Amino acid sequence: MRPHLGVKEDGHLTIGGVDTVELAEEFGTPLYVVDEDRIRERYREFYRAFADLYPEVEIRYAYKANSTLAVLHILRQEGAGADVLSAGEIFLASKVGLSPDKIIFTGNNKTNEELELALEKGVTINFDSLHEMERLQRICSAKKKKAKVSFRVNPAVSPETHPHLATGLRESKFGIPAEQAMTAYTRAKEVEFFDVAGIHMHIGSQITSVDPFVEAATKLMDIAGELMDKGVELEFIDFGGGVGIRYERDKPYITPKDLAEALVPLVESKIDEHGLKKPILYFEPGRYIVGDAAILLARVSTIKETPFKKFIGVDAGFHVLLRPSFYGAYHETVVANKAGAPWEEKVDIAGNVCESGDILARDRVLPRIDEGDLIAFLDTGAYGIIMASRYNSRPLPAEVLVNRGEYDLIRERETFEDLIRGQRVPGRLR
Ligand code: LLP
Repeated sequence: MRPHLGVKEDGHLTIGGVDTVELAEEFGTPLYVVDEDRIRERYREFYRAFADLYPEVEIRYAYKANSTLAVLHILRQEGAGADVLSAGEIFLASKVGLSPDKIIFTGNNKTNEELELALEKGVTINFDSLHEMERLQRICSAKKKKAKVSFRVNPAVSPETHPHLATGLRESKFGIPAEQAMTAYTRAKEVEFFDVAGIHMHIGSQITSVDPFVEAATKLMDIAGELMDKGVELEFIDFGGGVGIRYERDKPYITPKDLAEALVPLVESKIDEHGLKKPILYFEPGRYIVGDAAILLARVSTIKETPFKKFIGVDAGFHVLLRPSFYGAYHETVVANKAGAPWEEKVDIAGNVCESGDILARDRVLPRIDEGDLIAFLDTGAYGIIMASRYNSRPLPAEVLVNRGEYDLIRERETFEDLIRGQRVPGRLR
């Protein structure tokens, strides 16, 4: 079990000291439940791992993992900056009160409108292509405004993760190839409106070995060295996110400490080798910080036994938790109202979306399940609620924040009215 989860004597699963069965009764299902303390713990663990070994470290939490306002406020309190990828996320970071110097904008295919907004707010703009640089150059010249910029460099390494989660392969759509880096920086340096401040990589997500990070970081540090020779001194080096979590207990995993112990000595030796001024190291973890902090609660509505399979039908589907269908992802499941009961049968937990790919958990051995039981899907804090949709005309679920026995609703359950909000039916159709 995870450190913030527990089982009461009556067999009820708890999170942050709160009974999940009671939460489901009070707020209904499907329901995301996030543990505040666990987010703080993971943030501090990540930050300390690097800050204990290197003088200047900044964490820019990847908003895409979970950008519920309350979660963003917790991370702001902890001192995290933001890695944002859209105008919407820039809006959220401002809403939370982050100062622009703590925000890095790393979207791909940024629109001119997004670039203008980023410029106006004064956030660091991390280019994904040379074309984007040229477009910002035009915008800056027109507005006579200076931008702090960097490039996302694609180091061409394989992170050994799900193909959808690898972003630093030679063929990926992200970043500029390492071979183009010199040209890109030399050109950017000539632009009077650019303050060329850093270099960035993000090689993928749910990575469970330090090797690809080390390989990519080596390339990035060598590029920083070459840039130094050409007179471009970098203020920061951003190693992106990607540290995986333990979705499955028996699979390999790494901790931030493992990564820091492998990465920091490499960075230090490259600083010496190339005679660099000590850059600030940025990291952009998303999943590691919020991933295991939340669970999703869903209610069993239907039980179907066929000669081939037993299906446990719940009131959630891939519109609530996309990861199993989209990436074949594994989320451990617990019967939250009989968490201590012995395992008895093998079942598939089926979602309620009208698609055959909508299976939330396959071949799980669980206690005997009855109608009305409550299923908890663990480790759903990252890319959970944030990837939810209204597909099949189901309103988005609610989200609750728990902390040491207390709880607050942080996202109201949507209503049917939300399904039609903003839509118009021309008079002639009525
Ligand atoms: N920085 C950049 C530029 C990113 O694109 C990402 C994630 C991160 C940081 C944070 O990565 P993390 O530490 O969370 O691995 N929806 C997928 C994950 C997509 C990740 C996208 N980029 C999933 O559910 O597994």
